[in-house]
Amino acid sequence: MAILKIARMGHPILRARAEEISDPSSEEVRRLVEDMVETLEDAKGAGLAAPQVHVPKRLVLFSVPQDRTTEAEDDPPQVLQVLINPVVEPIGEDREVGWEACLSVPGMIGAVPRYARIRYRGLTLDGSPVDRTVSGFHARVVQHECDHLDGILYPMRMTDMSLFGFVEEMSRLAAESEEEIEAAAE
Ligand code: NI
Repeated sequence: MAILKIARMGHPILRARAEEISDPSSEEVRRLVEDMVETLEDAKGAGLAAPQVHVPKRLVLFSVPQDRTTEAEDDPPQVLQVLINPVVEPIGEDREVGWEACLSVPGMIGAVPRYARIRYRGLTLDGSPVDRTVSGFHARVVQHECDHLDGILYPMRMTDMSLFGFVEEMSRLAAESEEEIEAAAE
């Protein structure tokens, strides 16, 4: 087990399209997941994609902690989930704007529109299929993590850059407006 170095915005690995994993149950993938879990726990994030630890493979980890679930239908807490070769499709056109942060964009936060409801498919570590329809934070974190596999960071999804800034400054702004800012996805 090891804590891996996290690539920051501007590093070419974060701009590239990651490759499909041909054997999800391989020893190599198992070891990568172990290290990513340790890295994510150390960084206290909600999610992590393999390109963020300099591995250009289509693999993400994410969780939905109890305190980040929303009122939305299909947004229950989720223990850490490994998703290999994920495919995401929006259900409907509805989008919601929510705060996001990213371990590859440290210290920053921004308001990002995301599809409110999605279906995602992929494989677990033992190669069994996952097929879920989710909303709320769950939908947001999956979209954020899967974007990493296509070279997309959350600021590239923003439509109002006045809502992008340093966490410390934005928290002050939020305190004034009595609106709560919470780092959403990572
Ligand atoms: Ni991220």
